[in-house]
Amino acid sequence: MGFWKTFTSFLILNLFWSKPISSNSLSSAELSEIPTSFLNYAKQPELVNLMIDARRRIHENPELGFEEFETSKLIRNELDKMGIAYKHPIAVTGVVGMIGTGKPPFVAIRADMDALAMQESVEWDHKSKVPGKMHACGHDAHVAMLLGAAKILQDHRHELKGTVVLVFQPAEEGAGGAKKIVEDGILDDIDAIFGLHVSIHLPIGSVGSRPGALLAGSGFFEAVISGKGGHAATPQHTIDPIVAASNVIVSLQHLVSREADPLDSRVVTVAKFQGGGAFNVISDSVTIGGTFRAFSTESFKQLKKRIEEVIKAQAAVQRCNATVDFSPDNKIDFPVTANNKVLHKHFENVAGDMLRTDNVKDMQPLMGSEDFSFYSEVMPGCFFFVGMQNETHGKLASGHSPYYTVNEDVLPYGAALHASVATRYLLEFKSKFRISDRKLHDEL
Ligand SMILES: *[C@@H]1O[C@H](CO)[C@@H](O)[C@H](O)[C@H]1NC(C)=O
Ligand SMILES: *[C@@H]1O[C@H](CO)[C@@H](O)[C@H](O)[C@H]1NC(C)=O
Ligand SMILES: [Zn+2]
Ligand SMILES: [Zn+2]
Repeated sequence: MGFWKTFTSFLILNLFWSKPISSNSLSSAELSEIPTSFLNYAKQPELVNLMIDARRRIHENPELGFEEFETSKLIRNELDKMGIAYKHPIAVTGVVGMIGTGKPPFVAIRADMDALAMQESVEWDHKSKVPGKMHACGHDAHVAMLLGAAKILQDHRHELKGTVVLVFQPAEEGAGGAKKIVEDGILDDIDAIFGLHVSIHLPIGSVGSRPGALLAGSGFFEAVISGKGGHAATPQHTIDPIVAASNVIVSLQHLVSREADPLDSRVVTVAKFQGGGAFNVISDSVTIGGTFRAFSTESFKQLKKRIEEVIKAQAAVQRCNATVDFSPDNKIDFPVTANNKVLHKHFENVAGDMLRTDNVKDMQPLMGSEDFSFYSEVMPGCFFFVGMQNETHGKLASGHSPYYTVNEDVLPYGAALHASVATRYLLEFKSKFRISDRKLHDEL
């Protein structure tokens, strides 16, 4: 189902918004003022409070992937208050909003919504009220920023030369909410998509990204290596899976050190090793598990194939059998997050106008992964990091730490960046989809 059919009902509403398309475009000086004026707009106390309040409410009630029901409700409430049309549910709890003319170009800006299954250790007024769940990756801030952007864009909707699509996406942490949104088809006619992540490594007021591969493709594996248990004093009557698993792990390390091009970075990590429980018993089986990463689809596929081969063959050397599962706990493979070069340049221009070019940093690729890659795999996309480190506040704990905190001063930056890259995109790029006004009326 295409974006057009889905949003047909909104078009009626949007006809009232759309003004005659002016033929004279903005001067480059006028274009370069948009990001700074949006940042000032985002720093108004009213908008800052809206974002802080939303972020703290979400932080108090963290929800795991595809269970973001209250978060979704909060988002819809805020969009209702702003008078923004949206579609829901998309991918279980997702919300997709729309601001502007209802006509091409279509540019999407995305936030992820889910929390992590871990206990918060930060003592503060808005600590997680749900035992064992915490927003420790900043997705609460991402939702707040996209709501802030929605407010900026809605208040400037008459200046939009096309349509901004707001994507509130569930389940980024492993379950692939982005994949589900792509499969839904609602983004089929999108010309470009932008996404961001807060970063503890970059100073507040700065951003970072790079053209091409930014984040690795990632996969997970779990293997059960089975032998034959027995008395530890008589190994000759057993088939020892612990020794077999140990050899498997050592052999897996050779996939990167001996089979990969040293200039093509890859990772294989065995992070889980479970088996045995007594000093004098050889166990029946061992379970190992871990993750693998690569920066090209080709390298990723090759690594995955070899992981399975090595586990099975090396287990067999030790007379054990092995089964390998590449979707443990319903985890799925994430593609490489690669930034479209033209969109990355656009991001650099816009962020440079807002923050000065010396605050737009070139980054090295990171071995982390993002399910934003499911979008950038099928449409031009650009993902970037927004700094929130402020030396005077001390060091921030890293993502996925129980001590993780968000410097809320970052919220206006994220909101203004979202709104600016989208608004400027509509002013500077033409849609690749040539949907005539005639077709529009036919569909109405
Ligand atoms: C491995 O699988 C084969 C074939 O199913 C079976 O005969 C053998 O007993 C298994 N070995 C172990 C150690 O589980
Ligand atoms: C860093 O923190 C200090 C102290 O709270 C504050 O005065 C300053 O404005 C912050 N810097 C930025 C760029 O937000
Ligand atoms: Zn995370
Ligand atoms: Zn994250």
